[in-house]
Amino acid sequence: MMTKSEYLKAVKELNMYAYHYYVLDDPITTDEVYDALYREVVAFETAHPQDIAEDSPTQRIGDMPLEAFSKAAHRSRMWSLDDVFDRQDLLKWIERIEKHVSEVRYYCEPKYDGASLNLIYENGRLVQAITRGDGSVGEEVTQNAKTIRSIPLQIAYREFIEIRGEVVIFKEEFERINAERLERGETLFANARNAAAGSLRQLDSKITARRNLVFLPYGIGSNTLDIPSLNERMDFVYKQGFKAAPMRLTCKTAEEIELFYERMKTSRDDFEMMLDGMVVKVNEIAAQERLGYTVKSPRWAIAYKFPAVEKITTVIDILLQVGRTGVVTPVAVVEPTEIDGVVVERATLHNFDEIERKDIRLYDKVIILRSGDVIPKITKVLIHERPRDSQVIERPKYCPVCHSELLDEGVLIKCQNLDCSARVVNAIVYFASKPCLNIDGLGEKIVDTLYRNGLVRSVKDLFFLTLEKLTALEGFKEKKSNNLLLAIERCKGCECWRFVNALGIEHIGEVASKALCERFGLRLLDAKKEEITALEGFGEEMAESVMEFIRVNKERMQELYTIIQPRSPEPRASVAENPFKGKTVVLTGAMSEPRPKIKAMLERLGAKVSGSVSKKTDYLIFGDDAGSKYDKARALGVTTLSEDAMRAMF
Ligand code: IVH
Repeated sequence: MMTKSEYLKAVKELNMYAYHYYVLDDPITTDEVYDALYREVVAFETAHPQDIAEDSPTQRIGDMPLEAFSKAAHRSRMWSLDDVFDRQDLLKWIERIEKHVSEVRYYCEPKYDGASLNLIYENGRLVQAITRGDGSVGEEVTQNAKTIRSIPLQIAYREFIEIRGEVVIFKEEFERINAERLERGETLFANARNAAAGSLRQLDSKITARRNLVFLPYGIGSNTLDIPSLNERMDFVYKQGFKAAPMRLTCKTAEEIELFYERMKTSRDDFEMMLDGMVVKVNEIAAQERLGYTVKSPRWAIAYKFPAVEKITTVIDILLQVGRTGVVTPVAVVEPTEIDGVVVERATLHNFDEIERKDIRLYDKVIILRSGDVIPKITKVLIHERPRDSQVIERPKYCPVCHSELLDEGVLIKCQNLDCSARVVNAIVYFASKPCLNIDGLGEKIVDTLYRNGLVRSVKDLFFLTLEKLTALEGFKEKKSNNLLLAIERCKGCECWRFVNALGIEHIGEVASKALCERFGLRLLDAKKEEITALEGFGEEMAESVMEFIRVNKERMQELYTIIQPRSPEPRASVAENPFKGKTVVLTGAMSEPRPKIKAMLERLGAKVSGSVSKKTDYLIFGDDAGSKYDKARALGVTTLSEDAMRAMF
């Protein structure tokens, strides 16, 4: 066990690793080193709950779900921005500025497409996070904000300060979330902005935590800083541990602004987050103050928007793609259309229900939206322009690849043939992908070649490839073949969760795989359903999916296991015996200390603290004014304990 000073040092070290990873985008250690140190920190905190550091990374983990958000006032107003769309309007704006103030410079940075958030720091501690709301009053989402790793829980600066910025979801993460939602038959987020805003406004911060949101600061609200210009103020903000703008420049002339705008616009697809323009702000704070505000926006700032990414085109064909789970996904082929420098020929349609909901027909004129490298999608059908010969898109009955009969489950239509070549190829591609076994170079094209030449029929076959077999294929020189064999060899001994994730069990993604491995390690094959449902975040459907997968694939799993030999996870710090260990408890009512604190205490004793009462609940612990949860517990015969009774048991 660490000493207290070692513990404090470890917390500092973890925060430094996280800063390099989440803020600087420049990791300086491995997951393994981070996780090992994190576990030591958890072990110390379990033994010394009274010594937990406020900025310990364990304190970011979600609190109990809220019933509703409370309203909170911004200390100074959050403004909107006026837009300009072209050079002329930009020049007019500059002219107006320079009529009132002279010798100004212009600070330019991206306009992020997300949800704005106001962070209030007092004595260097993050005390409140408030959404924009109507600009004066927003919703308090502090607990959710704490789960965002690019928001520091503590900063070096001690005076009162409001830090403003945009919460965004990176494009890659947006695609991942929507793919997951599609698989679960949930409605999709229309764009990354909605996904970011929706994730920030979750009553259960655990959901927010899973969305990998990112905070990008763009300004300061109330403050007592004595820094005369915006660029220096932003440098100050970055020094406090916030993520810097990926591109920014202080300009003197309209030409410089225009050039920088062109540069940003051309590279907009290369940014990890969605941008919808560039913001131009007067750099000198004194000049800003002189220019002042209109009813809704500062006169000293403007959003110079990027051109629209929507175009009208025609649907000319529908392709059907079969994924690894057999789900058949329709893709629209459209009349090639240039949008902002890229020719678009395909648009995703997600599923057949979506086609029906939007009433998309063959030969319809449609609006397509392309944003960044997100796959273009059809946002609207121009029904009043529908041609006579438009054709309703029928739900397919037979697999377009193997021609076996499809199972129509409503939202999803599935090919049931396990040997369907599309399923096999995509399953292998998935197995090798980054969040699974991370085998470099095994993309769709190569797997398809291997499959067509009869070298692989299942994941297992990958491990029996030889240099001889590979070099016999066209286009496989010795170096390429050797690299592939090496990459396959290197995945042996991977972390256990990668192995579980790679199995492609329905409803079990990366997070669930990690939870399963942490709980069962390599004994997952013998897990019982009740043990799985008892895991945080696991419902019936997930547990059933795991049980069914094991039942059908036990042998295959064992074979793969023997070949790959995944590493077993390190055991969790063990908790001493106590009346709460392994129990499921629910907290309700007002207690003598904040509930999150009590929750953390119980969790350190090995209890699982849940947000709602069910038959699974072992204890309901109640404070003053306990309401419906208390009544429900009594009705279900759950043991109820007052806070004092609970403390007596500690
Ligand atoms: S400054 C002082 N800068 O755009 C003016 N806003 O349309 C207040 N936004 O509510 C905003 N990137 O949520 C500013 N670099 C940036 C921004 C930005 C995105 C959002 C922000 C604001 C909205 C106004």
